[in-house]
Amino acid sequence: MSDFDQVSLDAGGKPVTLPVLKGTLGNPCIDIATLPKQTGCFTYDSGFTATASCKSAVTYIDGDEGVLLYRGYPIDQLAGKSSFLEVAYLLINGELPTAEQMAGFEHEVTHHTMMHEALKNFFTGFRHDAHPMAMLCGSVASLSAFYHDTLDLNDPEQRRMAAVRLIAKMPTLAAAAYRYSIGWPIAYPKNELDYSSRFLHMMFEAPGAQLELNPVVAKALDLLFILHADHEQNASTSTVRLVGSTGANPYACVSAGIAALWGPAHGGANEAVLKMLEEIGTPDNVESAIAKAKDRSSGFRLMGFGHRVYKNFDPRAKIIREMTHKVLEELGVDDPLLEVAMKLEEAALKDDYFVERKLYPNVDFYSGIIYKALKIPTEMFTVMFAIGRTAGWVAHWLEQQVDPEAKIGRPRQIYTGADVRDYVPVDKR
Ligand code: ACO
Repeated sequence: MSDFDQVSLDAGGKPVTLPVLKGTLGNPCIDIATLPKQTGCFTYDSGFTATASCKSAVTYIDGDEGVLLYRGYPIDQLAGKSSFLEVAYLLINGELPTAEQMAGFEHEVTHHTMMHEALKNFFTGFRHDAHPMAMLCGSVASLSAFYHDTLDLNDPEQRRMAAVRLIAKMPTLAAAAYRYSIGWPIAYPKNELDYSSRFLHMMFEAPGAQLELNPVVAKALDLLFILHADHEQNASTSTVRLVGSTGANPYACVSAGIAALWGPAHGGANEAVLKMLEEIGTPDNVESAIAKAKDRSSGFRLMGFGHRVYKNFDPRAKIIREMTHKVLEELGVDDPLLEVAMKLEEAALKDDYFVERKLYPNVDFYSGIIYKALKIPTEMFTVMFAIGRTAGWVAHWLEQQVDPEAKIGRPRQIYTGADVRDYVPVDKR
């Protein structure tokens, strides 16, 4: 951490002083708000690689050390000891719940899992082969048309209830998207089950049959939801905040976050990793895949490798790697793709190209193999990520709503288009 509290610039001979802001942990930030006034200049930072967009107390990442804290608690402790719903409570409220608070939260989430019957029509309106992320995006946005009693952003209780509804209904909508795609009737949530088991039941209980839930599968899923629950100002959360900054309703904000998550550079990577491993096929093809990833002209990247913030091991990847071996063993699954993944990881970690660029496996590198072992279909992988990340999205949206410094997000640009010119009539062009 630097020990200076201001920086000075020389703007064409004119001295400019800018304050330096410091948080509890992490890099200090130069506050450039007065820069345009003092110099007439904006700042340019494509992809926001050096720009903090807000102050936040939700999650902290130290990318060089591979540290991830939710509200101050290390991710490995939460992964080992907590549950997804407890983590969701923590992210939203800032503190771990007492037993009574937890029981109340669980009760509330459980009793808001149903979707309105009319919402089912949205699913039947999709083509049978629609991607589940497309259906999730659309159905979540449509929630604002059903829950008018949570749209007054000035009412803290309505805001809180919108957050509860989103966490509660996301698995129901996700399972509905899957069932529609395979031609099964949409399932109702079972109140007596826990969050992850309820989702598994809605996904997999065939009409007319009774599903026996495997606790190993439910526990693994819960852990994956914890690991995906938040990651500070990532692309989808920043999208939720940008949309939120306009005063849009929470369902529209989260739907926009889902759209951002879908991209292969973000949450879509877990689906892309599995497809990549299947294409590589056997450990013998790993060397040629590495060579292709190093050749820029191939347009191919090692999916599940690299991260904007982590220049060290992604702490979530470490947990998932360990968990993958355990879950596969407990379920008695022998997946040859695991061998391909391990060989790929080993080869990349000692290759100069990846070492120099600090490209390590990220959270998505192993998650696909676990999802596959849990029998989650590949197109549903990013949907799984969305279920977990909903906790983070709503925590950030809630924080933003009471941030006295929050403003509409409106970046500037460097204009590179034509200079002023006169309109030319079509017969003179
Ligand atoms: N395979 C091969 N080369 C890579 C990879 C990769 N996976 N990732 C980055 N590089 C190279 C780039 O070509 C670039 O090389 P150069 O310096 O010679 O030009 C250098 O490493 C830096 O890469 P950038 O794209 O500038 O890094 P950035 O921080 O913008 O991107 C990202 C991060 C998008 C995650 C990138 O590493 C990537 O595309 N990874 C694969 C997709 C993926 O796994 N995404 C999931 C991210 S985690 C999440 O969202 C849950």
